[in-house]
Amino acid sequence: MSTILEPQSATPGSGTNVTTVDLRSDTVTKPTPEMRRAMFEAEVGDDVYSEDPTINRLEQRAAEIFGREAAIFVPSGTMGNSIAIKIHTRQGQEVICEERSHVFNYEMAMMAHFSGCMPRPIFAPDGILTWAEVKKKIAPKIYYRAQTGLICLENTNNMAGGSVYPTEIVEEICDRAHEAGLPVHLDGARVFNAATALGRDVADITRKFDSVMFCLSKGLGAPVGSLLVGSRAFVDMARVYRKSLGGGMRQAGILAAAGLIALEKHTTRLKEDHDNAQFLAAGLAQIPGIKIDPKKVATNILVFDISGTGMNSTEFTQRLTKRQVICGGVTPETVRMVTHMDVGRAACAAALEAVRAICSASAKA
Ligand SMILES: Cc1ncc(COP(=O)(O)O)c(C=O)c1O
Repeated sequence: MSTILEPQSATPGSGTNVTTVDLRSDTVTKPTPEMRRAMFEAEVGDDVYSEDPTINRLEQRAAEIFGREAAIFVPSGTMGNSIAIKIHTRQGQEVICEERSHVFNYEMAMMAHFSGCMPRPIFAPDGILTWAEVKKKIAPKIYYRAQTGLICLENTNNMAGGSVYPTEIVEEICDRAHEAGLPVHLDGARVFNAATALGRDVADITRKFDSVMFCLSKGLGAPVGSLLVGSRAFVDMARVYRKSLGGGMRQAGILAAAGLIALEKHTTRLKEDHDNAQFLAAGLAQIPGIKIDPKKVATNILVFDISGTGMNSTEFTQRLTKRQVICGGVTPETVRMVTHMDVGRAACAAALEAVRAICSASAKA
């Protein structure tokens, strides 16, 4: 297995400087003035009693947009995925996922801690699993082998460079898994980016999953929150587990008000982030020592190889930070940049200039 480090900037927190180009993640966006106004004016109630009208509206809109019976607001994507895994599995089972997936690497082992399950990771080129690979890892139905309980896909696949699942591949995995009696959950933290790249809508590309988690707090720009969507029975159960994890919030409509703007107004602007990622990829590909194939950059995430620059990812990111550009190392040889609504084309051009400068200084040293 390849080494995967937590994506980290050289100096976390330095993104607060206004001149800084923060390409660490699409989670760093600040709420827009429209969101702040909506939060200020939000109609609220106690959501544990299901009495927050703004939360209720957000959940209803999410269910409508995904063509599902119901949805539930959760404070984070991690909580949404953890709840879904708990509902779909029993203790002692295995969960098939991609090797670089968030549920495997970055969710604090909640799959084991909360659900009592073990991940069964599979490495897939570009992070895209196929049924041919998945089926090899489904445990045989013998009593002395831990049984597969769930398949979890991630679309877009974050650490594989924001790659997008072709819908035919997703649907084959879902259909064959269902024939084998297995549910399939989607970690769709960035599913709207996937839909934008495919030119299809989210309901269409996710219709065969048993449940979907998507984040408002990534490319859509909300300050907090994710949703889990699925059947009424699934969401009723999710409400129970959300409460047991301490996720029963009270006047959370303040958060949902920003979330509604993210959901209704920010999904159509993601192409701008994808175009900026293409611009960065094309520029990076020209810099000696950096390896990236712009054709493989499908959304707003770039993971590129810097091993030819003479720097490791820590040195690379530290030197960039000194030039007010922050991004994170993924492995010692690879770096990730993520475009989002708070970095425009000029900021991306400045970031490229800074990368050129540190690489040419390193080549001369
Ligand atoms: C693919 C993916 N899934 C889930 C999450 C978890 O979201 P949160 O940070 O809201 O817990 C993230 C966060 O970066 C992610 O990238």
